[in-house]
Amino acid sequence: MSKFDKRGNPVSYGVQTAVDSLDRVCDMLHAYQADPLAEVDKIIADHPDFAMAHAFRAGALATATDKAFAPEMIKSVQAAEALAPKANERERTHIAAVCAWRDGEWEKAAEHWGRASIAWPRDLLALQYAHLSDFSLGYSHMLRDRIARVLPHWNRGVPGYGFIEGMYAFGLEESGDYAQAEARGREAVALNRQDGWAVHAVTHVLEMQGRAIEGADFLAKGADGWAPNSMFAFHLWWHQALFHLDSNDVASALTLFDEKISAGGFAQALELLDGSSLLWRLSLLGHDVGDRWNDISGKWESRVDDGYYAFNDVNAMMAFVGAGNGSAQKRQIETVRRAAAGTGTNAMMSREVGLPACEGLAAFGRGDYSKAIELLLPLRAKANRFGGSHAQRDMFSWTLTEAAIRLGNRVLADTFVAERLSWKPESPVNRAWAMRAGKLEPKQAA
Ligand SMILES: [Fe+2]
Repeated sequence: MSKFDKRGNPVSYGVQTAVDSLDRVCDMLHAYQADPLAEVDKIIADHPDFAMAHAFRAGALATATDKAFAPEMIKSVQAAEALAPKANERERTHIAAVCAWRDGEWEKAAEHWGRASIAWPRDLLALQYAHLSDFSLGYSHMLRDRIARVLPHWNRGVPGYGFIEGMYAFGLEESGDYAQAEARGREAVALNRQDGWAVHAVTHVLEMQGRAIEGADFLAKGADGWAPNSMFAFHLWWHQALFHLDSNDVASALTLFDEKISAGGFAQALELLDGSSLLWRLSLLGHDVGDRWNDISGKWESRVDDGYYAFNDVNAMMAFVGAGNGSAQKRQIETVRRAAAGTGTNAMMSREVGLPACEGLAAFGRGDYSKAIELLLPLRAKANRFGGSHAQRDMFSWTLTEAAIRLGNRVLADTFVAERLSWKPESPVNRAWAMRAGKLEPKQAA
């Protein structure tokens, strides 16, 4: 007989205690707390025919966008698929989503989860997987609007209401509505200080508005809420390091790299890309990062043939350029070129963004700043196509600004600096670039 989860969504599996256990595991994932995969494995061990548990596991592994997790993700997709005939319509929509993801069709996966959240607007898991897919696909407005669609079906009395507020806050932030994003995000944090995504949404508002000192303080004061048991902590520490960097506190940024961002040993791609992108920013500004480039480049090298997600490939490329590892740069470019010639969502991402980005970073690394600008400048318009946040993709603006200054091209340097100052006029990093640009010969043409 059908059961229901705690938000009233139908579940075909007939053991209510198992359904209740999955509810608790879903809550861990919604808050980015503890180890939901280890917990769902326990449920599956006792209930191997629980289709929704397999679909949960497949979705969690898929949306981590990490090839290292693909074999386990495929196992879960196969288990869920085998149970599809016994599943209900909602569960079959989840299973269709993870099948699409396994097949490299990430846009279709987002739409399946999105359809599930339209048909069952309190299906918080479908909504979260759609939200994470929207993030990986760079669908800024869908990060907001997919949540807005279901808001009439939610109120404070529905379990997990704060998670809806946190996701909506992040979508509002990525869509540029900072005031409403901050209000909604702070409300969600007040409801649950462990809600890593809500903390993240407020953090992004502070990042985008250049409120670096306030941002560092917000994360430091809230860390006793989210940091213990957070599986997302490395990324919030990365944001903390960016705040330090934008306050000219390089030592604190490096300490966070050593003690927090690298604390998991860079076991997953999400950690590696935060590590790379922090070191890239530090290096661009001329700070000595010691052996850290070699360490992280070594970790990325085992993934150089992945070609799984262009966003990861570009962050790997930063490490190879930073470490001066020419052979890995060459292999990475070959990998992305091969991915670009393939099929599925990542082929588009690799073609449109990944390949020119990797080639542009390699050009920057060999001091060919003119070539780097030629390759990277068009990406300022379309880098969203390979996903990530505005804050992450800000790397392109950083690199272009530094390249223009090193090239001695006053027109380009002034242009990129003007753009940066329009976002963050008080930023010490931006002001330092403005000073350097101002010392260049004014005659140089664009
Ligand atoms: Fe972020």
